[in-house]
Amino acid sequence: MSSPWSRTSTWDDGGLTIGGRRAHELADRFGTPSYVLDVADLRSRCREVREAAERAGAEHGVPVAIYYASKAFSATAVLRWAHAEGLRVDTASLGELVTALRAGVPGEAIGLHGNNKSVEEIDTALAHGVGRLVIDSLPEIDLVAERARAAGVVAPVMVRVTTGVHAGGHEHIATAHEDQKFGLSLATGAAREAIDRILATPELHLLGLHSHIGSQILATDGFVTAARALLRLRAQVAAEGGVLLGELDLGGGFGVAYTPDDDAPPVPDVVAALVGEVAAAARELGTPVPALSFEPGRALVGPAVTTLYRVGTVKPVRLDDGGERVYVSVDGGMSDNIRTILYDAVYTAAIASRTSDAPPRLSRVVGKHCESGDIVVRDVMLPGDIGAGDLLAVPVTGAYGRSLASSYNQLPRPGVVAVGDGEPREIVRRETIDDLLALDLG
Ligand code: LLP
Repeated sequence: MSSPWSRTSTWDDGGLTIGGRRAHELADRFGTPSYVLDVADLRSRCREVREAAERAGAEHGVPVAIYYASKAFSATAVLRWAHAEGLRVDTASLGELVTALRAGVPGEAIGLHGNNKSVEEIDTALAHGVGRLVIDSLPEIDLVAERARAAGVVAPVMVRVTTGVHAGGHEHIATAHEDQKFGLSLATGAAREAIDRILATPELHLLGLHSHIGSQILATDGFVTAARALLRLRAQVAAEGGVLLGELDLGGGFGVAYTPDDDAPPVPDVVAALVGEVAAAARELGTPVPALSFEPGRALVGPAVTTLYRVGTVKPVRLDDGGERVYVSVDGGMSDNIRTILYDAVYTAAIASRTSDAPPRLSRVVGKHCESGDIVVRDVMLPGDIGAGDLLAVPVTGAYGRSLASSYNQLPRPGVVAVGDGEPREIVRRETIDDLLALDLG
């Protein structure tokens, strides 16, 4: 059992306080829905995982780097904080890459992923001296080599290997089994072919191998299985090709607790344990311990954000079993959190503007969209006196919340309010209907 509320969150008679600021004051000032980012939470998570990685690396005499997977939530302020805490940045599109550069993250501290990189993405990465491009297919080898030749540079690359490990909280986010679009298969020999071709291409410098097995993973065994597969491949390449690849990246995917019932191991501990496992397995194979890197996204920014909604309509409905469920409608919904309906994700919620002694009732938090699947929290016990005007808080919405948000039903996307770093302020402005109409050319 662990608290899903961000680290500086406290509760008293006045409800929820985050970063020293009352939720109801934030709501009055910035409106609802708003994503509230607890800066101390984010920074401390970044710091702790980086420190654990460095300590574990030092024990085995290798560097261990942490890349923040910016797809979880890409905003310049967040990237600046992550980078200030010693993290690098993982990107997967031109937009994420440009955002990282705009945040002042130096090219060499940025990685670029993507199963269908455009020429513009590759050229921009090479022009800014990006630290690594992760090769995802055989045709991409020639494309990156050609663009590197045109730019007059040698491109640092890794090979994304599909290890066959099936892991992840939901089928849509498992990424290392054979039948999906990412990476080069170990089983079919495509990964080995990619390695050999890259080693024979003077415009490419092969840094090492990459594996990302999925997301919201709570057990470590999948990571260990994948790491062992990469290590065996590395040993094979060293024995047959005479080249010892320097680095393995084990990707992201570390799970977090979304409700008090979830049990998620602390990510710094997981990373440290994995470094130990890799070191032991490398030695077993008689190979030197590789440099390592990881790409957590959700685990760093997810728990740092709480969404604040204003409650509107409250409607009890009769269930088939004779019971009752209270539908609590809020002023956002599937446009600011699609995860509930897309991945069957489970969240919790609480009244943030007051306390209540009213007996709790089985409730469902729903949005204001024209779909019955517009569910924010499927099942939660909320005080029976919840009503219009109450402020409702949903924790752990920082990862893939704003980044998967849409403007469905022409609902402007909420802003992101940072607290605990001076005066509370919007680091991403709330969208307006004028913003939406600005794209409508009539
Ligand atoms: N590295 C690579 C190559 C990835 O593809 C991803 C996530 C990460 C790192 C970061 O994974 P994380 O630590 O955040 O789990 N929209 C889904 C998650 C999709 C993850 C995609 N790739 C969700 O809301 O659960």
